Amino acid sequence: MSNSTRYTGLIDKYRDHLPVHDDTRIISLGEGNTPLIRLSNVPRMIGKDVDIYVKYEGLNPTGSFKDRGMTMAVTKAVEDGSKAIICASTGNTSAAAAAYAARAGITAFVLIPEGKIAMGKLAQTMMYGAVILQIRGNFDVGMQLVKEVAEEAPVTIVNSINPYRLQGQKTAAFEIVEELGAAPDYHCLPVGNAGNITAHWMGYTESNKDGVSNNVPKMVGYQAAGAAPFMRGAMVDNPETIATAIRIGHPQSWDKAWNVQKESGGWFDELQDSEILEAQKLLAQSEGIFCEPASAASLGGAIRDVRNGKIPEGSKIVCTLTGNGLKDPDTAIAQCKNAAMSTIDATLSDVKRSILENMT
Ligand code: F0G
Repeated sequence: MSNSTRYTGLIDKYRDHLPVHDDTRIISLGEGNTPLIRLSNVPRMIGKDVDIYVKYEGLNPTGSFKDRGMTMAVTKAVEDGSKAIICASTGNTSAAAAAYAARAGITAFVLIPEGKIAMGKLAQTMMYGAVILQIRGNFDVGMQLVKEVAEEAPVTIVNSINPYRLQGQKTAAFEIVEELGAAPDYHCLPVGNAGNITAHWMGYTESNKDGVSNNVPKMVGYQAAGAAPFMRGAMVDNPETIATAIRIGHPQSWDKAWNVQKESGGWFDELQDSEILEAQKLLAQSEGIFCEPASAASLGGAIRDVRNGKIPEGSKIVCTLTGNGLKDPDTAIAQCKNAAMSTIDATLSDVKRSILENMT
């Protein structure tokens, strides 16, 4: 044991709570340990006495919470002798799989829906050197194909149906409990496959059983209205939303997530694309935090439920910001058409005039 305090990733930190051995070769990029930021302007703007924290998972090594699950899934795949991993993805899982495979020196195969993943995610996946299979079909179709091919080819699935993924992802709840000294009253997340909401609940209940926290939160899952099977009570065949990360109609953790909802006393709800984008912009412009569209569903939903009283005043709320805003520059730029940007001559007088015109 060294005395170094260098942070070496979540498996090292939480190894007593994770299925690893002392001699397991850990594949890590220093994931986890993300900031829990207390919002200072949003509660004032909505005029309610609530404490809202955002867990900025976009600051993980590949820019999303997927790194928490991927460090575990790839570590175990390598331990089991696997030479290749495979996933279907709306973009973030593919970026994380590609990065951790590169780190481990194995091959990543990723199936992504053609034309439906954000540009930053595609750039990452290409750069990390994954074998990219763009399919003429959505995520749900890709997921089915991955399950079928993994039965016949020597590849390890690293989607969240791989139980090690949820093990890694539960550590986000550990970090929150550590920082707040307790679980929050409400934990709000965007929901696609519903793996992450399930993983957080595992983390909170384990903390509670271990006596680290005395309470557990109500878990609240928000979906995009065009891709909201939990609201429909049934699978959705042609999901559509601008929040491409959660453009999923057949959630893989369907039963698990219903259990989370029931056990925690939480609920599911849905947001229109316009509400998602509005929350994304509000967070960026009033707090200086840039998340990707899907992530903003957690905050947008929480704000609505605080306003309508479903989340009472006096509550402590954590919203997970699942991915970094830089992942999807196209959507950001498209919704900032009226940004204060102008092209001027490169002269001192023009710069001065522009400053005076824009002073508030
Ligand atoms: N937010 C972001 C940014 C995501 O990328 C995802 C899922 C979710 C939320 C939903 O999480 O599926 O655990 O309910 N992205 C997966 C992917 C499907 O392929 O990157 P979930």
